Parts: sequence; C-alpha cells; structure tokens
Amino acid sequence: MGCKQNKKESQSEMETAKTESEQNPIEETIFGEMPDGTKVKKFTLKNEAGMEVDVITYGGIITRWTAPDKQGNYEDIVLGFDRLEQYLDGSPYFGALIGRYGNRIAKGKFSLDGETYTLATNDGNNHLHGGEKGFDKVIWNAIPKNTGAGATLELTYTSEDGEEGYPGKLDVKVTYTLTNENELDIQYEAVTDKPTVVNLTQHSYFNLSGQLSKPVLDHEIYLNADTYLPVDGGLIPTGEFREVAGTPFDFKEPKSIGEEIEADNEQLDLGGGYDHCWVLNEGEEDFGLAASAYHPNTGRLLEVYTNEPGIQFYSGNFLDGTLPAKDGGAYGKRSGFCLETQHYPDSPNQANFPSVRLNPGETYSTRTMFRLSTKQ
Ligand code: GLA
Repeated sequence: MGCKQNKKESQSEMETAKTESEQNPIEETIFGEMPDGTKVKKFTLKNEAGMEVDVITYGGIITRWTAPDKQGNYEDIVLGFDRLEQYLDGSPYFGALIGRYGNRIAKGKFSLDGETYTLATNDGNNHLHGGEKGFDKVIWNAIPKNTGAGATLELTYTSEDGEEGYPGKLDVKVTYTLTNENELDIQYEAVTDKPTVVNLTQHSYFNLSGQLSKPVLDHEIYLNADTYLPVDGGLIPTGEFREVAGTPFDFKEPKSIGEEIEADNEQLDLGGGYDHCWVLNEGEEDFGLAASAYHPNTGRLLEVYTNEPGIQFYSGNFLDGTLPAKDGGAYGKRSGFCLETQHYPDSPNQANFPSVRLNPGETYSTRTMFRLSTKQ
C-alpha cells in the first residue's frame, strides 16, 4: 500500500529528531531546501486508525493525506507533488493555506476608512489568493504538539504591515489537528495592529478515488446551500444571490460533478465548469455540515463542517495535464476538486456581503473540519 511505502521513504530521508509520543506520533523530516538555503520541514501527523497527513512549512501545504476505502485500503486522496521544486516551479495552490484573502478582489483595489489600497492583479485584472506571494508561498513556523484531541501542528506566520499591499501587521495562526476519528480540524486565527481585511482558507484538491490523475466527475457532491453567487467574466461575484433550484448549481441532493457540468448554462461557461461560491444555509448549529463528497466505487466519503458563510466549489477546470501527478500520470482537467470554506469573494467591495474587516483588539477566528469515512 502507498501508506507503507511512504513510511519507508520518510524513514530513510529522516534527518531530524522524531517528535513522538506513544499515541499520536508526529514525524519530522526535511522536505527540501529553498533557493536561499532555508530548509522546508515536513511533518507527518498520524492517528490510531492509520490515517496520515503530511504538512510542509512552505505554504502550510498538505502534500499527502491517506484515507481508507470501504475495504480498509489507505490511499492518498489529495493532489500535490513529491518534491519542493515542483511547488516552487508553479503550483495551482495544491493543498496550500490561502491568505490574506481567499479568492478574488476586483481590480486589486479596496477601500477602508476612506483610504484606497492597491493589491497585485495576479489574475487578469483581479487580485487572487493574496497576491504574488500569498500565504501559500511563505515559510511558516511550525510547532508539533500532541494534545488530547490528536496530533496537532501549529503554524504561525507574521505578515508585515503593507505586505502584498494589505494594511496592518497581521499575526496568523493555523492549527491542524488530526483526530482518531479521521477528522482534520483546522482552526484559523489572526490579529492585526490596524484595521484590515482577512479571509483565510485551505486549498486542498481532493480525488477520493485514490487515482489522483483520473477525472473526479463521478464524485457525488452535496452542498448545503439554497443560493450561490453568480460571477462576471473575471469570476468576480456580480452581487446577486441566485437560487440554485432548477439549475446545475443545485447540490442540495447529492449529484455527481459530471451530471450537469456540460449543461448549456452561462455561469458554467464563465467558470469553465464549477468555480463559484455557494452561500451556506444557516442551520441550527453554528458548525454545521456545509458540504460532502462521496466516491461510489471506493466508498470514501468526505464531509466538510465550518462556521464560515460560504464555500467555493471548484471543479479543477484549469488543470490541463501539464503538471506531473504523484501517481506517475499527469493532473488532467478536473482531476481534483476543492471545497474552500471562506467568506465570499470580493467582500471588501461588496456592501451586501458579510464583512471581512478585522480591527485591532479583535481576533479573527474560524474553524473548518474535514471528516473522512466510508459508506457501502
Ligand atoms: C480558486 C479559484 C479558481 C482558481 C483556483 C486556482 O479555487 O476560484 O478560479 O483560480 O483557485 O487555480
């Protein structure tokens, strides 16, 4: 199994001490070296069930995540690369932490208290995922911990005032906890010294088939949302909240990604498939089920819980077969999908969207949990 093989690899490449406790060992190895010589560490979180999650200090990227199928076979379920150089050469945010702002800000501009801020336009005319060097491309400080909740990795990063054009020095902490119930619990926190905007997320591309270069069209998606945010040609929300009922955007009952993705629909044309933010229904709980994905052949089920108001469901439309896959193939169009929990794109410019403003003295705090299980 992939799991065993990887264990061998990481043992042979082990250069550093093991940070281990008996229950939930966290292995620490060196993943690679930045051009300036900075070492990039890799931490392997494990649980009692046999799940493993590899996280590197570059971008806080989840490079590998194993999950059992209905026969108990563990396979890697996230797209990524084997080597650091491949991430440095250009990754479509595989597995990365995204900040300061998940998704797009129109024309790379926004105003706060009468002052206009200018950000990089790194996606056509718009700003995407924090700019030229977002949180996906910085080195995070990492502290492995073994808490009662499971194997935990605490990542911290200080984004200086003015970094990528954003106001305020932002201290960010992201905590990944792998529980024995096959849950990856992610806690995001941030504080600022000036009013600013923040919208953090995680950009894992999932392929629950375990065959990472195969299309994900057979995965059945559920989204707990009555409305979604239609976009313009630059994938910026128009401001409208549109009903999903009777459209290919209705995932209130699970439906395969492929079922309607080629339907004649203007919004699907604009996104090249699904690449939109769904407005999550408010449930009775404040940490409810936002989305799920089920792969019938393997029985793998992924559930996403969050207290964020939105989820960007992206069907991997921009993948084009040019990037080498971990399984030896190539990442073709729609070989992975993302479920990015977040505030809505372009919120700083849209008065009707929930605010993404963070003031000094406040703590930004959001939580998202991915739970893996199987269904017959
Ligand atoms: C997000 C966006 C997509 C695309 C991917 C990265 O999910 O919504 O349009 O930019 O990131 O390729």
